[in-house]
Amino acid sequence: MNDVEDRVNTLLGQMTLEEKIGQLNQPMIHGLPGLDLLRQGKAGSIINAFGALSGQGFDHLNSAEQCNALQRAALESRLGIPLLFGRDIIHGQRTVFPIPLAQAAGFNPSLVEQINQIAAREASALGIRWTFAPMLDIARDARWGRIAEGYGEDPLLTSRMAAAAVRGFQGDDVSQPDRLVACAKHYVGYGAAEGGRDYEQAEISEPTLRDVYFPPFRAAVAAGVGTIMSAFLDLNGMPATANRRLLTDVLRNEWGFDGFVVSDWESVGELVQHGIAEDRAHAAALALRAGVDMDMVSGAYLETLAENVRCGRVTLAEIDEAVRRILRIKCRAGLFEHPLTDPERAIHDILTPKARELARQAASETMVLLKNERHLLPLRDFRRILVAGPFVYATGELFGTWTMDGRAGDAVPLDQAFQAIAPAGTDLWFAAAPDLALSRAHYADAVVLLVGEHPARSGENANVSDLGLPPGQLEWITAMAAIGKPVVLVVFAGRPLAITRAVAQAQAVIYAWHPGLEGAAALAEILFGLATPTGRLPVSMPRTTGQAPLYYAHKPSGRPLEADGPFRTRYVDMPTAPLFPFGYGLSYTSFSYSDLRLSSAHMRGTLEISALITNTGERTGSEVVQLYVRDLVGSLTRPVRELKDFQRITLQPGEARRVSFILREEDLTFTRADGSWGVEPGRFKVWIAPHAEAGLEGEFIL
Ligand code: BGC
Repeated sequence: MNDVEDRVNTLLGQMTLEEKIGQLNQPMIHGLPGLDLLRQGKAGSIINAFGALSGQGFDHLNSAEQCNALQRAALESRLGIPLLFGRDIIHGQRTVFPIPLAQAAGFNPSLVEQINQIAAREASALGIRWTFAPMLDIARDARWGRIAEGYGEDPLLTSRMAAAAVRGFQGDDVSQPDRLVACAKHYVGYGAAEGGRDYEQAEISEPTLRDVYFPPFRAAVAAGVGTIMSAFLDLNGMPATANRRLLTDVLRNEWGFDGFVVSDWESVGELVQHGIAEDRAHAAALALRAGVDMDMVSGAYLETLAENVRCGRVTLAEIDEAVRRILRIKCRAGLFEHPLTDPERAIHDILTPKARELARQAASETMVLLKNERHLLPLRDFRRILVAGPFVYATGELFGTWTMDGRAGDAVPLDQAFQAIAPAGTDLWFAAAPDLALSRAHYADAVVLLVGEHPARSGENANVSDLGLPPGQLEWITAMAAIGKPVVLVVFAGRPLAITRAVAQAQAVIYAWHPGLEGAAALAEILFGLATPTGRLPVSMPRTTGQAPLYYAHKPSGRPLEADGPFRTRYVDMPTAPLFPFGYGLSYTSFSYSDLRLSSAHMRGTLEISALITNTGERTGSEVVQLYVRDLVGSLTRPVRELKDFQRITLQPGEARRVSFILREEDLTFTRADGSWGVEPGRFKVWIAPHAEAGLEGEFIL
C-alpha cells in the first residue's frame, strides 16, 4: 500500500497542472485519431475504448490491439502514465448472462460472483480494465427502465449482490491482468426518479436515503470497490454530481472510500442544464469540489479547470487530491506493470465452454415459476406441442439491455433449443404469427406461449407508462386460452410487468427475464423437466401500473390494510397487495415450514432463529428460506417487514432440514428520530418464510 502511495506522490510531484487535469479527463475516442491527445497526456481514461456501441461484429483480436495502440500513445506522453480503459460490462461481455435483475432472482451471491469473474476475464482479454458495474440502485418503480440493470427493490439483497459483484470483478487482487476495477453506480437515489422517468429528480428523506439507498453502496465500499459513479439525478434539489455531502462527507469521511469518483456521462456539463451552474467552468468547479474526480465525456474539466485554478475557484490541492485518487487506482490495477494486453488471450479466454455452461446455469437458476396448476409443468405426455409467440425464433432478443459485445449468432435460437431438448417422440410446432398459431392450436395437446418485452423496452431511458405486456400480446393470450388447450406462458422481460389477466388465463407461468445467450436451452430444460425452477422474485410483481411504486418493506400507516372498515389504505378498484410478493417462486416440488425456534425470548447480542423445512413433494428441489424482521415500535416508523438474511437449500423428496439464522443486534440498526444510527430496545417480530407475505412468525425482545 505504501508503495502505491509513494509512487503516486512521486508522480504528482513531477506533473504539470495540464498533465494533472489530463488525468481527470475521460474522453470517448473512436479509432486512432485521438492519439495526439493521449501523447500530450490529456486523458486519464478512455470510455468504450473500441467498437461501435452495438458491438456487433468487431474483431476481438483487433480490439486488444486497438487498446494497445492507444495505450502506447499514452505511454509516449512525458510521464508515460497508462490509460485505464472503461466499458460497460454489465451482465457479461461476449458471454451474455441473465440481466442483473434476473441474477438477483437467484438469491445466490456466489453465482453473481462467478458471472462477473468470467465477465472480467473476457473484457480484460480485450484491454478493458474497468467496468461501469455493478448498478446498485434500489428500484421500486418498475416503470423505470433501468430496473433491469440492478438487483431489485431490497437493500439487503442488493447489498449482498453488490459485495459479490465487486469480488467477482476485482478478485482478491485487482492487479491481476484478468480482473476489472468495478464501479458502483449510480450514487445515489437514481432508482427513485419521479414517475419512473429516467433523469428525473427524486425527493428522498434522510432516514430513507440512509436505510434503503445507501446500504448497497456501503457494502460495495466495504468490499473494496475501486470507483463510484455519481448519478445523473437531482436529489432533494442538489444534483448528485455536485453533491459534496454525498460524495465527500458520506462516501469518504463516513465510509472511508479511497478510490475515485467518476461522473456519469456528461453529468458535469449537465450541471448547467440543472440550473445550478452558470456555465461549464462553474459546473466543473462545483463537481470537482463536491468530490467528482473524473469527468466522463463532458470535457468541462479539460477545458476549464486550469482557468478555474488561476482564478482561485478551485485550489491546486483539490486537483492534486483527485489526481491522487485516480493514480492510486491505476497503481492498484497494476497498469504501470502491465499496461498492454496480450492479444492472444482473446483466442482462449472468450466464450469458453465453461463460460457458456455458467450462463446456462445462471439462466436456469434465475427463472421464476409463478404458477403451475395441476402440475402442468414439467411437460409430460404431450405428443404435439405448439410453441408460439413473438419470441419463438429469438436469439439476441434474449440478451437484454447493455450487451454491447454480445452477438446474436452466439445464441442457439429458441426453436432449435426446444428441438434439441424435448423428449424423443414429441412433435414441436412453431408459430410466430398469431393467426397461424391459433389455427394450429386446435390440433395441439398443449401450447407454450413465449411473450414479453424486447430488450429495447428496458434499460437506460426505456421507461414505460404502462406495465402491461406490449401491444397485442394480451389479446393473443386471450384468444389462445379460449381454444381450451393447456397454456404455459413464458414471459421475457427486463422488469416486473403487470400480467394479472395473462396469468389468470394460463395454467402455468414462467418468468424468464432476459436470460442471456443460454436462455433458450435453460428454458427448454425447465419446461421438459431436466431442471427444476429455483428463482425467486427480487421485486414485487404489480397487478397494475397504478400500484407503482410497489415494495414489500413499506411503512405500516395509521390505517393499515388489515384494519377494519372502509377507511384504510387501499385502492377502490384493485387490491393493494402485489400479484406475487417479493421472494415468491414455486418449484416442481413443495416445501413445508414448521417448528420455528428462537434460542431465547430476549436478544443479547445475537439470537438464533431456526425452522424445519421439509420437501413434501416428489422431486428434488431448491428453496430460498428467508428471514424477515419487524421492529414493532420505533422513534420513527419502521417497515412492516425487512429481509435480514436468506439461505438457498436443496432437499431430496421427503428430506427435512433445520435451517438456522443468526440475527445480530447490528442487523436491527436504523436511522433514528434524532438522526443517529443504532438500535432501539423493544419488541420485534420475526419470520422464517418462503416469501414476504407468509412464514412462521415469532417474537423477541431486544
Ligand atoms: C449511463 C451509465 C453508463 C455510462 C457509460 C450513461 O449514460 O447512465 O450507467 O455507465 O453511460 O456508458
